[in-house]
Amino acid sequence: MNFRLMNHRFSFGLALAGLLCLPFSTFAESINVATKQLTLNFKVGEDHRLYQQPIGLEQSNWKPGRDDESYPQSGDGYVWEPALQVVHADGNTSTALVFDAATRSNKTADIEEIRFHLHDAAYPFEVTLCFRAHQNEDVIEEWTEIAHRESGPVTLARMASSSLLLENNVYLTHFFGDWAKEMLAPITEQITPGAKTLDSKIGVRASQFQNPSFFLSVGGKASENEGRVLAGSLAWSGSFQLAFDDNGKSVRALCGINPFESSYRLAPGKTFTTPIMIWVWSSHGLGEMSRKFHHWARDFGMRDGHKTRSVLLNNWEATGFDFDFNRIAALFGPAKEIGSELFLLDDGWFGNAYPRTNDAAGLGDWQPNRQRLPQGLAPLAAAAVQQGLRFGIWMEPEMVNPNSDLFHQHPDWVIRQPKRPLELQRNQLVLDLTRPAVQEFEWKTIQNILSVPDITYAKWDCNRYLTQPGSPYLAADRQSELWIDYVQALYALMDKTAKTFPDTELMLCSGGGGRADYGALKYFQEFWPSDNTDPTMRVLMQWDYSYFFPSMALASHVTHWGNRPMHFACSVAMSARFGMDLDLTKMSAEDKAICAGAIGAYKKIRDITCLGDLYRLEDPHGNDRGAINFVSPDQARAVVFAFQLRDGPNAYVRPQGLAPSKRYTIHELNPAPGRPQIAQEGKTFAGEELMRDGILPSCSKALEASVIELSE
Ligand code: GLA
Repeated sequence: MNFRLMNHRFSFGLALAGLLCLPFSTFAESINVATKQLTLNFKVGEDHRLYQQPIGLEQSNWKPGRDDESYPQSGDGYVWEPALQVVHADGNTSTALVFDAATRSNKTADIEEIRFHLHDAAYPFEVTLCFRAHQNEDVIEEWTEIAHRESGPVTLARMASSSLLLENNVYLTHFFGDWAKEMLAPITEQITPGAKTLDSKIGVRASQFQNPSFFLSVGGKASENEGRVLAGSLAWSGSFQLAFDDNGKSVRALCGINPFESSYRLAPGKTFTTPIMIWVWSSHGLGEMSRKFHHWARDFGMRDGHKTRSVLLNNWEATGFDFDFNRIAALFGPAKEIGSELFLLDDGWFGNAYPRTNDAAGLGDWQPNRQRLPQGLAPLAAAAVQQGLRFGIWMEPEMVNPNSDLFHQHPDWVIRQPKRPLELQRNQLVLDLTRPAVQEFEWKTIQNILSVPDITYAKWDCNRYLTQPGSPYLAADRQSELWIDYVQALYALMDKTAKTFPDTELMLCSGGGGRADYGALKYFQEFWPSDNTDPTMRVLMQWDYSYFFPSMALASHVTHWGNRPMHFACSVAMSARFGMDLDLTKMSAEDKAICAGAIGAYKKIRDITCLGDLYRLEDPHGNDRGAINFVSPDQARAVVFAFQLRDGPNAYVRPQGLAPSKRYTIHELNPAPGRPQIAQEGKTFAGEELMRDGILPSCSKALEASVIELSE
């Protein structure tokens, strides 16, 4: 269905004076964007501007004023943080948008798209506020489109994707971090008058310090099962800004591309489309919010969201840069033996004049190293396949080491500032993706690598961020466009890769978790949450990531980080996408048996952990134990994970989400060697009983874990 709330439609051809003369009564009074539990109420004011009732504020308490403008513009009366700041072709720095029309269309029974058309009555300049409302999931995707037909380019100085208003009793939970400390330490704070800004200015990836995902608890702090909560995640892999502007009456959440140094010239006749802001609402706490987010993500946020994942063995922690054909091929047999299904060859396989034997050389020269792999990648991939494993490969197509043929041939292909010494991070530089020749080079590189027969998986890495944002390709007056053009060119490359190699699974990685965002994830099956694989840290990280991402998207590998017991490490990895990064040729028989047991168990439950619903039971932050459970979509099976971080009492874990009247039989999977069987092993209980009385896991001492399957 597609209908208009007005019987005319703004067009640049219309006489502006005529438009302004329309009687106010022809404007719609209120317009809603609604899902099952969330309604955004908009109203067109007597001044023809569009207003939004703050989320959480009762209709009867709402007295719309200029502060409540839905997408405020700077320069004409609005004095807080604006959503839009424009310099028009004639130099005017003000914009004044009036409402023109709303169009609605049903994409499916569940999805409605609503577009609010606004225009500036003094300029041929229009803005469309776009909402895609997913009814059942309570997800609203929001973005903005900007277009004009002025006499010359218009400069967009800021253009938020979303600028939602909320009542002013709001708590923000956000996630500050760094390399190896991603999503470890949630910070919850009440928004108070003034602006709280979370942003990143690092260009080629969303996060290193701040994270583009957060949640807001409305009207008081939310818990797992109670409270009104709005999760937000900006789908953008570059510099972002999330500003929470409290004017004493309401809080405005301005989310979008970081305006920092990013002004963008928009030519007449072109449309600028902002990244999508994803909002997820729950009236019943954080658990429900996450489950809805996960449902949306499986359908729209990632590739293959309804397929389970293979068990992966990676060689990075095992060999680092030190390997050759034989060393790698020797891992295939033991990998297959313990149940792996996929082998991932990491960094170090390429470069000849500048061999990639450490991180200071070779990036950019994507030819297999002739000493290490004399016949190239194909025979190695074939050897893996012969052993019954799929084969995957690491690549970092956007980067170059100064020690490379590529850099010597094309020193002007890198992002750098004129007259400044090159600033290296991990000895490398970023190639300038705004340059068509670089786009071509990176595409050829990816195409060559992924066309090697038997390669069906790849890890796409990005190990530095921008610190000298200058493009030798872009004209002097377009330098600020580098930030946006880079990310758009990157998405074009990722899109082409996903479409050209539909059967090749892709892992998104950026020096750990720098690209854990839905802008890039839609081209990938999963992402690498952190280089920190210490399972005691991963329990916390995976808990926090799970607010926003389904666990099937989180690559979780068993390694020796932290030297934790193998059983504990395996149990933690089993609660996300299980993999290993271990030298199987050097492992004790006992540890190997634990791994083999974990893989066998993971294969039994991965349909539940990948495709089922997650319930966070016991928060591991600051506590002795963390616990979660997953429930299959038909509620016939469930799996409970308990992770003991410090010594504690052997307490019952109470699962959630079971069918109260169904009866479930309890079975501990891959129990730790030497620990007694759990008391309820093999016994059958009603879901209601289990949720009320709980299950006693086999763990109570630090670094013990228990994985318990419940089957109807
Ligand atoms: C990054 C990744 C690691 C590994 C190395 C290889 O740090 O996060 O997993 O791939 O690069 O150089």
